[in-house]
Amino acid sequence: MEIIRDPKAMQEIAIDLFKRSRSVGFVPTMGALHDGHVSLVKASLHDNDETIVSIFVNPTQFGPDEDLDDYPGSIDEDTKRLKSLHLDYLFLPKKEDIYPQNYLTYVEVQGLTNRLCGLSRPTHFKGVTTVCSILFHLTLPTVAYFGQKDYQQTLVIEKLLKDLHFPITIKVMPIVRDKDGLALSSRNQYLSGNERISALRINQSLEKAEHLIHEGERNVYILKKAITEHLSKSKDIHIDYISICHPKTLIDLTQLTIGKVLIALSVYLGGTRLIDNRIVKLAN
Ligand code: PAF
Repeated sequence: MEIIRDPKAMQEIAIDLFKRSRSVGFVPTMGALHDGHVSLVKASLHDNDETIVSIFVNPTQFGPDEDLDDYPGSIDEDTKRLKSLHLDYLFLPKKEDIYPQNYLTYVEVQGLTNRLCGLSRPTHFKGVTTVCSILFHLTLPTVAYFGQKDYQQTLVIEKLLKDLHFPITIKVMPIVRDKDGLALSSRNQYLSGNERISALRINQSLEKAEHLIHEGERNVYILKKAITEHLSKSKDIHIDYISICHPKTLIDLTQLTIGKVLIALSVYLGGTRLIDNRIVKLAN
């Protein structure tokens, strides 16, 4: 596994791979790697001639009161883990090389970013699309891998790729969960023992809503009420949002009539913000 820190060196390697018609899978991460990230890396290694993983804790996607300074990091462990997967390239740029002094360029997808997570994190997606644009230019991937846990992020990236004509395909991999159903997230490390137990209500509440839908419930108010009631049984859970919406536009629904719906939610447990979602197919 080759470790590259300099963006220019990364781009030179990427150009060489492109000239040699090597297919390149790219997995952008912020480190603190868990089995969800590993599933993306394994998919890329399986699908492509070469795989590049980046680890970069991107400051522009954190709001002023968020956890940038405490974001979990374990470069040595992450490096060991990636080496054991026989990764080809690990890109570890420094903050000042991605955002040098007097950096002035931002990339923003509108509309989709004002809903769901965008309501409580109004600058988040602008940071994500900016850093992903930079990373895509440096790694020139054929395919970029993202996890469904960040469902809204995958839609925003898809739109970025389409609108700016990036010649990149996005591949979205399923959510990886612990045995007890909690979606894997680097931020799960912040949870206390009791918060970790309360967090199980997140997936349970999604399961409940899915079950109600399969039983024929089509009223979104009733579905949201069931989710809220289940979450609220743990006093340490504070709901940020619950959305039952169109899976492509993220526009909230009041009655379920279309083929598929997205149920997405975000909660705070102490200072930790966790998200999860489910796509539910409606039986005709
Ligand atoms: O999903 C993440 O970890 C980040 O948002 C990403 C895509 C690596 C951009 O910083």
